[in-house]
Amino acid sequence: MLTALSVSHIPRQSMSSTRSPLCAVALFALLVLASTFLMRNWHYDLQEKTFASRHLDVDFLSLQNILFKELQERHEEIIPFYIASDGDNLLEFSGNFVSFYPSIKPDKVRKYNHKEILIGSSSPDEDMVACDQLDDMKVVDFLGSGYTKFVVKADLPDGLTIALKSINDQGTDMRKCLEEFKDPVGCHELVSFKLKKEIILLQRLQHPNIVKLKGHCRDKTPAGGITAILEQGTPLQMIQLLQSPWEERFRVCLGLVRLLHFLSESPLGSVALLDFQPRQFVMVEGELKLTDLDDATTREPLCRTDADCLLQFPLRNFSARCSERGLCEGMNEMRNLYNAHRYFFLYLLPHQAPVTLRPLVDQIMNSTAELRNNTNGTLEAFEEVFHIFRSGRHLENLPPTLIREYTSMRGVSSAGNVDYRCWPSYNQQGCVLSVHSTREAAAICHSHPQCTSFSLRGQRTWTGRLLATFRSGFSHLVPDVHSVVYMRKTKASLGGAPQ
Ligand SMILES: Nc1ncnc2c1ncn2[C@@H]1O[C@H](COP(=O)(O)OP(=O)(O)OP(=O)(O)O)[C@@H](O)[C@H]1O
Ligand SMILES: *[C@@H]1O[C@H](CO)[C@@H](O)[C@H](O)[C@H]1NC(C)=O
Ligand SMILES: *[C@@H]1O[C@H](CO)[C@@H](O)[C@H](O)[C@H]1NC(C)=O
Ligand SMILES: *[C@@H]1O[C@H](CO)[C@@H](O)[C@H](O)[C@H]1NC(C)=O
Ligand SMILES: *[C@@H]1O[C@H](CO)[C@@H](O)[C@H](O)[C@H]1NC(C)=O
Repeated sequence: MLTALSVSHIPRQSMSSTRSPLCAVALFALLVLASTFLMRNWHYDLQEKTFASRHLDVDFLSLQNILFKELQERHEEIIPFYIASDGDNLLEFSGNFVSFYPSIKPDKVRKYNHKEILIGSSSPDEDMVACDQLDDMKVVDFLGSGYTKFVVKADLPDGLTIALKSINDQGTDMRKCLEEFKDPVGCHELVSFKLKKEIILLQRLQHPNIVKLKGHCRDKTPAGGITAILEQGTPLQMIQLLQSPWEERFRVCLGLVRLLHFLSESPLGSVALLDFQPRQFVMVEGELKLTDLDDATTREPLCRTDADCLLQFPLRNFSARCSERGLCEGMNEMRNLYNAHRYFFLYLLPHQAPVTLRPLVDQIMNSTAELRNNTNGTLEAFEEVFHIFRSGRHLENLPPTLIREYTSMRGVSSAGNVDYRCWPSYNQQGCVLSVHSTREAAAICHSHPQCTSFSLRGQRTWTGRLLATFRSGFSHLVPDVHSVVYMRKTKASLGGAPQ
């Protein structure tokens, strides 16, 4: 997992010299070759130089060339994302690719003629934030950081709160690059390609479960850093989610499957998230959103035989088919779906699912554990569960007589309440649960020994279910047009709060 991460963060060919003996040998051979060649050329000009210092210069030049090649490769990697566009949103940035990398002498390297395509003013969308609006922003909080990027929360004068993502100069990516190349400008440029890639992917892949890009800017300094302006979320807290009601956990899983379905048929092809972990996501008002896209790939792996299409996980292997086109078709989708199973569904989905939905949930768990269904089929199964849950169809067998145990009083709410706690409550102090109907609320109150009344105020959850507050007593009623109180007749405790 971590190796995959570091490999994808810093390209193989350049960084493996310290790791792989074979590459180290190859690199050494290259250096020797280069040094003999260059030493011959320099012999006439640089007679006074000692061998040691000459050798160092050669080393340095070779490294520069390698870094330059890396930069070209990163550049080439993201070009298809710009080309595969509808054209209107294409923002061209004129200037030579090497413009931010002046330390390379033009005659020593192949000229690179692509225009750099990036970073202009944003399109005039209401939700967009223009770069000059950042002049008056106030950074108010640190939101997170990783190998590559650094994210802060900022307030704009108009009251809008945004997240700003930029390169993490203290991050592992930057550190490794500096160790290798000792070139701060070149390394910043190299690491910046990840953020550039993320920005263009955020533009191309818009979905309710992908964080919204509100703009992107470049500092005015020559080698200026890039900043992405994003809607602000909160880092995903798995522990907190585990303690939340099933309805909220289901929302996260459903959002994830909707996202994976979109990615499997995206405008850029089938997209795989190579580094798929909870920390690549944030929550925005209860909705899961992908924020880290720099490790996404839009290409299915190349293959010659089926044996090349092995999909490995720590506890499980799968195999995809090698198509006639020489691609492991469907493998990106399989990778995403199994990762969703092992990082999300396993923890969030089965636990406390409504009893009557359990068979369907178990089926989803089983089919994703074995990858027996594609993303399409899995999404269908999720939407089915969602539909049943929302419509209350799973509650048809509740006894209709229970509600008769309660007296309802409209236009009042209770005061002097005696709350009790239940789990998993929407409110830490009392017992607040979502219900489809008063009939379901009556059944819940019936099943809690402490419960003597419940009330509804018309507040709803994301699925449209009502929030009900369950109590063991209250002292009196007060007028309240928004509220209905249901009192249990047998245990009715008006004025009967325990002493
Ligand atoms: N829009 C946002 N709102 C709130 N927090 C965010 C937002 N975007 C990112 N974060 C937080 O910042 C962290 C780092 O962002 P991101 O994952 O893009 O950086 P990274 O360097 O690629 O990380 P990694 O090394 O995990 O791949 C995330 O884990 C997340 O917690
Ligand atoms: C997955 O495949 C690899 C390579 O063939 C093998 O070494 C490993 O044991 C397999 N793992 C499982 C869990 O089957
Ligand atoms: C899921 O798999 C378990 C164990 O393999 C099995 O007992 C159960 O019946 C399966 N459930 C469904 C709904 O397929
Ligand atoms: C998913 O279903 C849609 C419509 O049913 C179909 O067009 C598409 O090809 C399917 N995709 C996959 C990956 O199976
Ligand atoms: C795949 O999903 C579809 C839609 O939910 C379902 O009808 C089908 O039975 C599933 N197939 C398997 C093998 O689980």
